[in-house]
Amino acid sequence: MGVVPDAADPIQAELGERKLQWVEQHSPVLRRLAAGRLADGALRGKRVSVVVHLEAKTAYLALVLARAGAEVTVSGSNPFTTQDAVCAALVRRGLKVFASHGCSPAEFEAQLLANIETAPQVIVDDGAELVARLLRRRGDLAAGLLGVTEETTTGVTRLRALEAEGLLEFPAIAANDAALKHLFDNRYGTGQSTLEAILNLTNLLLAGRRVVLVGYGWCGRGLARAASGLGARVTVCELDPVKALEAHCDGYAVRPLLEACRVGDLFITATGATGVLGGPHFAAMRDGAIVANAGHSSEEIELEALAKLAVRTEKPRAHIEAFVRSDGVRIYLLAGGELVNIAAADGHPVEIMDLSFSVQALAAHRIATHGRELGRGLQAFPPELDREIAAARLSKT
Ligand code: NAI
Repeated sequence: MGVVPDAADPIQAELGERKLQWVEQHSPVLRRLAAGRLADGALRGKRVSVVVHLEAKTAYLALVLARAGAEVTVSGSNPFTTQDAVCAALVRRGLKVFASHGCSPAEFEAQLLANIETAPQVIVDDGAELVARLLRRRGDLAAGLLGVTEETTTGVTRLRALEAEGLLEFPAIAANDAALKHLFDNRYGTGQSTLEAILNLTNLLLAGRRVVLVGYGWCGRGLARAASGLGARVTVCELDPVKALEAHCDGYAVRPLLEACRVGDLFITATGATGVLGGPHFAAMRDGAIVANAGHSSEEIELEALAKLAVRTEKPRAHIEAFVRSDGVRIYLLAGGELVNIAAADGHPVEIMDLSFSVQALAAHRIATHGRELGRGLQAFPPELDREIAAARLSKT
């Protein structure tokens, strides 16, 4: 199944442990919550599943919930963002882990189903990966679910679709929409960590580079700000004319995507949509174009269309694949089209995830405390909790 069975590899477990400790030392808000509100017994004995990109910050969230007394089961939300060292450290700490880096789609399914079999009462989800499977594969377990809290834009969209089907009988907190999540994580977190990952992978210069950002939502805005701050020449491609106008007024060039493909050097997708970059776009790109994705899944890029266009591929550096067209043009795909900042790097800065996971921890605590009294369906994270997290963070600046 590709499940991490135990901390059999002490070197990996030790590496993961050091990462966990670094995160704990730089997460003042979660540390404070762990010692205060989360210790009131509401989570004691509750079965909690955490299914979020499984690197050290997520592992620390899982640990905080376990220290609050929850029986925590952990899985990754994408096999390519799971870090085995972190899994090994969690296993050594006594948590149940069903995850492994780079496993096959069938193994990934098996891991999530194994997680579902623990009959979770609270789910901390990313992309609605666990709750959607629970509803479709083990609908009988939905009756025991007190609620779910969702980490990301794509997941909230998927939950909305499940709600329209009448499947959300339990509360689903849109943690992504909390101010202390999307205003900071999607914007500053994605902006910094995506560019960091791309620059580290390529060892190339950003200043003067023509960067094309596809999508001007919260992630796109953060990316534009960070890229232009480092001297890039930013072009935004956005379907929504209101957001496109906003990009224009923020000082960026705004162009249709196909047109931008003819002039861009570095393309970053951050839309949450599928098939955003396809055959005609790859055909229009110039030699040396770099393509990366920051959205929830690699489906933003039509990988088959890219492969079809290539007469051969090369692997010039780790996490970089060159697709060589018949005219000799090379298009470089980073991290196989998976979200580059987590699949090929450590993800968001720790302080950002301290905020995001404080939202998640308080949302999980709220579900554990009130359960279905919160009402069924999608609901907002209470603004007073946003203010509490912000005040706690500000007191540490
Ligand atoms: P958002 O909904 O605020 O923005 C997405 C934007 O993309 C919208 O303005 C939409 O009009 C635009 N768009 C959709 N299809 C398009 C197309 N074909 N061409 C051009 N524009 C298009 O969403 P947000 O919060 O910016 O998130 C975007 C994606 O990034 C989601 O999948 C989200 O889950 C993911 N995400 C990734 C993170 C990371 O660490 N890499 C962190 C947070 C979110």
